[in-house]
Amino acid sequence: MRSVFLHLALLAVSALADDITVYTDSALAAGWENWSWSSDIDFAATDLFEGTSSISVNSQAWSALSVKLEGTFPDYQGLRFDIAGAQPDLTITVSSSVDGTTSPNILLSALSTSITSDAFTSLLIDFRNLPGSGAALGNGTWDRISFQGGANGAIYHIDNIVVVESIVITPLFLSAEPLAANTIAVTTQGAVDFSDLTVSLNGKAVKIVNSTTYVPVGTPSKSVTYLTLAQNFAQGTLLINTGVDNGGNPTFNFSLPAVQYASFVQTKNYPISPSIYGVNFPTSASYIQDLGVTMSRWGGNAVTAYNPNGQFTNAGADWYFENRVADPPSADDWIGWVHGAGSGSLLTVPALDWVSKDSTSYSYPVSQYPGQASTDPFLPDAGNGQFPNGSYVTSTPNQSRAYTSWNTTMAKAWLKGLANKPTLVAIDNEIEIASSTHQDMHPEPMDYDEELSRVLNFSIAAKEAIPGVNVAAPSTCAWWFYWTSVVGFDDNAAHDNMDFLPWFLMKMAAAEKTYGKRLLDYLDIHYYYQADVSATDPATQALRLRMSRSLWDTTYTDESWVGVPPQQNHQWDPTIISLIPRFRTLIDIYYPGTKLSISEFSSTADTDITGGLLTVDMLGIFGREKLDSATYWATPDELGPVGLAYWLYRGFGTHFGANSAQVNLATPNPDTQGVYAATENGKLSVVIVNKNPDTPITFALANMPFGKYFVRHFGGEAGIAKWQTTVTISSIDYIVVPAYTAVFLKQN
Ligand SMILES: *[C@@H]1O[C@H](CO)[C@@H](O)[C@H](O)[C@H]1NC(C)=O
Ligand SMILES: *[C@@H]1O[C@H](CO)[C@@H](O)[C@H](O)[C@H]1NC(C)=O
Ligand SMILES: *[C@@H]1O[C@H](CO)[C@@H](O)[C@H](O)[C@H]1NC(C)=O
Ligand SMILES: *[C@@H]1O[C@H](CO)[C@@H](O)[C@H](O)[C@H]1NC(C)=O
Ligand SMILES: *[C@@H]1O[C@H](CO)[C@@H](O)[C@H](O)[C@H]1NC(C)=O
Ligand SMILES: *[C@@H]1O[C@H](CO)[C@@H](O)[C@H](O)[C@H]1NC(C)=O
Ligand SMILES: *[C@@H]1O[C@H](CO)[C@@H](O)[C@H](O)[C@H]1NC(C)=O
Ligand SMILES: *[C@@H]1O[C@H](CO)[C@@H](O)[C@H](O)[C@H]1NC(C)=O
Repeated sequence: MRSVFLHLALLAVSALADDITVYTDSALAAGWENWSWSSDIDFAATDLFEGTSSISVNSQAWSALSVKLEGTFPDYQGLRFDIAGAQPDLTITVSSSVDGTTSPNILLSALSTSITSDAFTSLLIDFRNLPGSGAALGNGTWDRISFQGGANGAIYHIDNIVVVESIVITPLFLSAEPLAANTIAVTTQGAVDFSDLTVSLNGKAVKIVNSTTYVPVGTPSKSVTYLTLAQNFAQGTLLINTGVDNGGNPTFNFSLPAVQYASFVQTKNYPISPSIYGVNFPTSASYIQDLGVTMSRWGGNAVTAYNPNGQFTNAGADWYFENRVADPPSADDWIGWVHGAGSGSLLTVPALDWVSKDSTSYSYPVSQYPGQASTDPFLPDAGNGQFPNGSYVTSTPNQSRAYTSWNTTMAKAWLKGLANKPTLVAIDNEIEIASSTHQDMHPEPMDYDEELSRVLNFSIAAKEAIPGVNVAAPSTCAWWFYWTSVVGFDDNAAHDNMDFLPWFLMKMAAAEKTYGKRLLDYLDIHYYYQADVSATDPATQALRLRMSRSLWDTTYTDESWVGVPPQQNHQWDPTIISLIPRFRTLIDIYYPGTKLSISEFSSTADTDITGGLLTVDMLGIFGREKLDSATYWATPDELGPVGLAYWLYRGFGTHFGANSAQVNLATPNPDTQGVYAATENGKLSVVIVNKNPDTPITFALANMPFGKYFVRHFGGEAGIAKWQTTVTISSIDYIVVPAYTAVFLKQN
């Protein structure tokens, strides 16, 4: 079979005697062991191969081709392999069986999106610049490599696997982009030569008066050099000529557009809630500090079954209704360290009648319920509780198989005994859909009355256990269930035709009168965009970046089923989500004074630059629209695009101002840009996100004080290049933000 090798454009691999061959033909090379799981693997496949054979792999869901060296490869520089398949869904990791360390996930799609079944594609992972994150693997007792399939498994051929001792980096200018008033940010790899670089604006040479080079912490493979020009940018043609044959085009050429007029009014301001910069389950204290995380949530589907007496849990339908040891195990210790790192905490309290009884039981043994649609590849007796046709198996399992009883007395005892008290308590998670997510535990459809009753009972318990604690509820999963229950619109009809959350607010207001104090401090919802953005084409990326308008814009018809009448709920303008203003209005009508929290939201693309830019836009909107608390679902990768959105606003102790300042835009263009301002101690901070993939945007920014600014940015032509510097702004008439870039400016 003929094979096509893609040109390894940027990296030259030197074949050295010390490269470690993993596989060439017929069997794993000497010293390598097969540590694969739940996969059909032929180490001598002859239906497609280089040389005399290849490895053919058919991995079930989440299963892997995994190989381990008898020895280690501590400081090698890369992994090379040839692969064929219909763009298999693979995640590659390098790990240490010695100390358990594992590299960040490397998605095969971050290496190539054009892998085909009929021919091999040759790929190389540079350990100093891991695809996706740009992180360095670093030295370690590395001895294992895994190619793990996704939810639908993976079928492919792989050949010529080599751990590479040395990769020579070709010196290269990756991008050179105008930034702010007179700075050019140049991203490079390797030892580039700047001596021939020239800049011209509208045909006239511009002098470079200063140059500073940084190697970003955590992503050392790319350097960023800031060139300060003697002259400010202006509308027209900017030409940056590197003077070096850059594997093709030695120049970066920009058409700088006409300015948009904007002004900042620092005297018109109001506080931004400090709790909007949150995430679910931060990974460590340094994560919290590096990204400036202000709120940490213990949440998600598995916490519904969290048993603090034993530290067991069960993720329900997310993982074959199996018990396991909770991770992290102790909520109490977790609250302790997240507070120690400077974050607040949102602890979810289970509010159904059961929690996991141990770390091993499961609800749907195949031995008991044969013929289930799918089973855990790691535990073949544990099924998903459904037949192939989608119906649930019968009869409903005895809850005692996996669970032990739980009630308000037990919740109260747990909360009372916590050495570390949470900032906020949430009454369970998305229990309106428990009849599917926790079908084994709570098969009956949850109606309005039951959900209200559970929130009331557990809120009373929480408030008795921790006097003064704030309660958030009901953490409703999505737009559809804001307005009705799993029972359907008959349930609305039985409750004066009221939509669910307005009815819930009304009842919680009434409960305050009965009980003598508030039982609901935060109305908590989860918000996931309803548009389908599963594709990866430019139109979908643009749609993703527009969707933030649904958070605030009272004129934005949702680009999803929500925007298509007829609607069954009883909301005004039901094709327009206008999420935060809508809920602030509902709260004003039904239970004034209640705060609003979004304890799950997502960029819909954690590894794509557009996911990062959208998150920048969302965090800006949360502040401006007076949201009270927000935690991202789930845990953004610190060095990935979404982590960088937090870093932009809050990284390493440099924070966006505490008060949202007025921004006036002559041309708002919310589809393609976001402009946010804040003030603190009289100093201005600004975040601008340019959502255009290929055109810079420029502003005349009235009332922006002259002087020194701390600047931080990510995105741009070189992927997710990021870094920070200090610039002097002596003219505010023409401020540039490059394409697909988010910029943070803070007055020194
Ligand atoms: C390698 O491991 C897989 C998964 O456990 C197994 O199916 C396969 O037979 C093994 N192959 C060899 C040659 O040991
Ligand atoms: C990794 O190991 C190599 C060779 O042993 C050494 O030169 C290098 O400095 C080490 N790097 C780090 C980050 O420790
Ligand atoms: C050049 O940049 C460096 C580093 O930011 C700074 O210390 C120095 O003052 C700058 N020089 C001029 C002339 O602006
Ligand atoms: C730069 O772009 C301008 C405007 O598109 C064009 O006229 C000019 O020829 C380009 N210059 C180079 C060197 O590519
Ligand atoms: C689904 O399959 C099961 C098992 O074969 C069967 O008992 C059940 O009636 C089917 N349900 C529907 C809706 O067809
Ligand atoms: C469920 O299992 C428990 C413990 O084995 C048992 O005591 C109980 O009677 C069972 N309930 C039903 C309805 O079978
Ligand atoms: C909760 O269960 C315990 C143990 O069975 C019991 O003592 C307690 O009364 C129950 N509490 C409530 C509110 O039912
Ligand atoms: C809430 O508590 C009341 C009073 O103890 C009880 O009657 C009711 O059943 C409880 N609600 C639920 C859903 O368990």
